[in-house]
Amino acid sequence: MPKRAILAIKIFLHLGLLAPFAYLLQISRNGTLVQNADPVNYITHFTGDWALYILLASLAITPLRRLSPQIAFLIRFRRLIGLYAFFYASLHLATYIFLFSGYDLPTALIALKNGQPGELVTQAKFVWPTIWDDIRKRRFIQVGFASWVILLSLACTSPAFIMRAMGGKNWQRLHRLVYVAAIAAVVHFWWLVKSGVRTPWKVTAVLILLLGARLAYTALKARSKPTPKLATQ
Ligand code: HEM
Repeated sequence: MPKRAILAIKIFLHLGLLAPFAYLLQISRNGTLVQNADPVNYITHFTGDWALYILLASLAITPLRRLSPQIAFLIRFRRLIGLYAFFYASLHLATYIFLFSGYDLPTALIALKNGQPGELVTQAKFVWPTIWDDIRKRRFIQVGFASWVILLSLACTSPAFIMRAMGGKNWQRLHRLVYVAAIAAVVHFWWLVKSGVRTPWKVTAVLILLLGARLAYTALKARSKPTPKLATQ
């Protein structure tokens, strides 16, 4: 595929993947967000949803490109899409810390403007017990954190020079954890909805499909490997 086409697709992907964030900025600027019954809840769910959709999209790249050699170039966009999943997951975490948990962001920002950066820490100290309590007691928060920590480690090791330093095999082993991150994110979703609510079924179906494709490919590859000849005496 020509370099210019790759660049054009990358630009298109950046624009598409930034669109949900731009939408969020737009509705918070034009006042639509504050008209919502619970704006913080809206942002938490919006960023969580997009983190998960984009994570699943990044997982879909590998099985898709295996369908035909003509679309093998798709692999060149997997890293970019994965990094956007991390971006939305981090926005989601930031929403939880700075909006959901009671951190008084406006006060901290005003204090910062007035040359009192210490207020940022004071506010963090204020909400830390609530966050720590959540981490200890709520299993959906624990599994959400686990997913985010995996995404963080994958994002940190995504540059090519780190891949070279780690060695291809080690890097691949680590990056297979992306499946664990996706499973943890889907479990996070199931554990946070009220019992009887089936909202996460669609993302679960997509994840099962992707895991199934992965397992089927591994099984087929193992079967097509020539069996080693027995050593003759
Ligand atoms: C970093 C640690 C995380 C924390 C503290 C966290 C926290 C939360 C909270 C407080 C909610 C709303 C719960 C409620 O309404 O009762 C939520 C919802 C959600 N989170 Fe997370 N989360 C984390 C990580 C993640 C990650 C990594 C993903 C996806 C990759 C994710 C995806 C979701 C989804 C899909 C929802 C539900 C959205 C909906 O109901 O439409 N979360 N999370």
